[in-house]
Amino acid sequence: MEFSTSIGFLGGGVMAEALITGIIKSGLLSADKIFVSDINYERLNTLKRKIGIQVVNSNAEILKKAELLIIAVKPHAVDQVLNDIKDEITPSHEIISIAAGIKTSYIESHLNKKVPVIRVMPNTPCLVRSGVSAISCGAYAGAEQESKAKAIFESVGHVVFVEEKLLDAVTGLSGSGPAYMYIILEALSDAGVSVGLPRDIAMSLALHTMIGSAKMVLETKKHPAELKDMVTTPAGTTIAGIRELERGKLRSTLIDAVTAATLRSKQLFS
Ligand SMILES: NC(=O)c1ccc[n+]([C@@H]2O[C@H](COP(=O)([O-])OP(=O)(O)OC[C@H]3O[C@@H](n4cnc5c(N)ncnc54)[C@H](OP(=O)(O)O)[C@@H]3O)[C@@H](O)[C@H]2O)c1
Repeated sequence: MEFSTSIGFLGGGVMAEALITGIIKSGLLSADKIFVSDINYERLNTLKRKIGIQVVNSNAEILKKAELLIIAVKPHAVDQVLNDIKDEITPSHEIISIAAGIKTSYIESHLNKKVPVIRVMPNTPCLVRSGVSAISCGAYAGAEQESKAKAIFESVGHVVFVEEKLLDAVTGLSGSGPAYMYIILEALSDAGVSVGLPRDIAMSLALHTMIGSAKMVLETKKHPAELKDMVTTPAGTTIAGIRELERGKLRSTLIDAVTAATLRSKQLFS
């Protein structure tokens, strides 16, 4: 897919940079068709120098440069951005918001026009183009906006579509998930050291075991339980390890972690 229209970023921080890089690398748009506004001029100049995007002086001005707008400011700055654009925006514009917890209905009612709005919950591995993003449509967004959002977020990883009410659950699983994986990685690396491996080798083994196992599920499309059974020989080493995982309640601990993070997301943003 190649975009025929320009894209405007409202906020040019970490996530905007990841998306801009993905969009350019995947050939959706060239840098000269990407406009960015940000209150931090130093940041804008860095982006211009690094990536060659077009700098815009205000949030309102970006509406003249692009019809597809991506809100990429922190949630507390969303009201300011909406106030800046609400007079000039038209229903032929479309908005994608990545601001955590800000509902499409909130943006729609603030703008008070039938502007298509899409909300996306990406995760940090988007910074290395291995993220996963969940996409939800607002009241005025349809298939056309969905397919543009899909193309944009596929440029930084994998994409799923969910009903907006499930975005707290997405936050609890894939939003917070990288932190769970880092802890598991660190623990496996510590475990390797405790059984005699040098730290760098332990980390390398843990890391590639995690990547490789995920790839096995992705590429063989087998259920993880089936793959686990394939490496578990009777009275062997793996079943001895699995018994300890069950004793330590790894499964229910992970379920509890995702449940707690989902509840916390609901508390923070409802
Ligand atoms: N980073 C992630 O992994 C991640 C994951 C999921 C969702 N998100 C969401 O993505 C959004 C962006 O996160 P981020 O980590 O990229 O944030 P960030 O690095 O802080 O970037 C936001 C940028 O917007 C600027 N800004 C603040 N107020 C503005 C305004 N009124 N108009 C224009 N620009 C303004 C900020 O400038 P100052 O620094 O000067 O304030 C900053 O340069 C957040 O809403 C977050 O919830 C991020």
